[in-house]
Amino acid sequence: MTSEVLNEVLKLVEPGVKTEDIDRFAEDLLRRKGGTPAFKGYHGYPKSVCISINEEVVHGIPGNRKLCDGDIVSLDFGVLLDGFYGDMAVTVPVGNVSESKKKLMEATQKALDVGIAQAVAGNRLGDISHAVEQYVLQEGFSVVRDYVGHGIGRQMHEDPQIPNFGIPNSGPLLKSGMVFAIEPMVNMGSYQVKTLSDGWTVVTKDGKPSAHFEHTIVITKDEPEVITCLKKI
Ligand code: MF3
Ligand code: CO
Repeated sequence: MTSEVLNEVLKLVEPGVKTEDIDRFAEDLLRRKGGTPAFKGYHGYPKSVCISINEEVVHGIPGNRKLCDGDIVSLDFGVLLDGFYGDMAVTVPVGNVSESKKKLMEATQKALDVGIAQAVAGNRLGDISHAVEQYVLQEGFSVVRDYVGHGIGRQMHEDPQIPNFGIPNSGPLLKSGMVFAIEPMVNMGSYQVKTLSDGWTVVTKDGKPSAHFEHTIVITKDEPEVITCLKKI
């Protein structure tokens, strides 16, 4: 349901759209389908979607700002349904974006894929973290260190924390049935971030763009199962 709703929400992304209208559409559609927004009210977060534009890394609060041609926008969305949570994020272009922003988005999505590929029974948590970091560094970008992925299930944030950097063959052993939200946040410039005075919006310190992709996945003996896979309709 997380991906079903987000897939519909993505169709609204175009220059001139207000971020609070995207948020309202997402919440309405989700509630019509019987789900509950996971972020709304979480530690006082006021909205259902986190919408983070350009140098905003995560936790941007929807409001009366309009998307502009050339922006990149990250939509992060969490759902509670039948006692369980789903969590996912994507970064998409608004109109025509620069080649460097495109490269950043592509590298972040690929970093997530590379991390997911390591999420198999018998590997260790550090294998996921290391694979993401290595890929991002190889592409010439940096990984945010202050925010991490997480276990997910009956709570949105469960152990373990899943950093996007780490040491291979270290940390807890991965077992079938574990459910993780893996979510690289990748910066074009330095990895350093700060929080704005609204208490939520995390931005890059150097003002350069950032991208974020997240999937909820299940570890199995074979291929990881991506349960927030965007269905192509
Ligand atoms: N989307 C974040 C995560 O992936 C959590 C959002 S925090 C909230 O873990 F307060 F905005 F809900
Ligand atoms: Co998450």
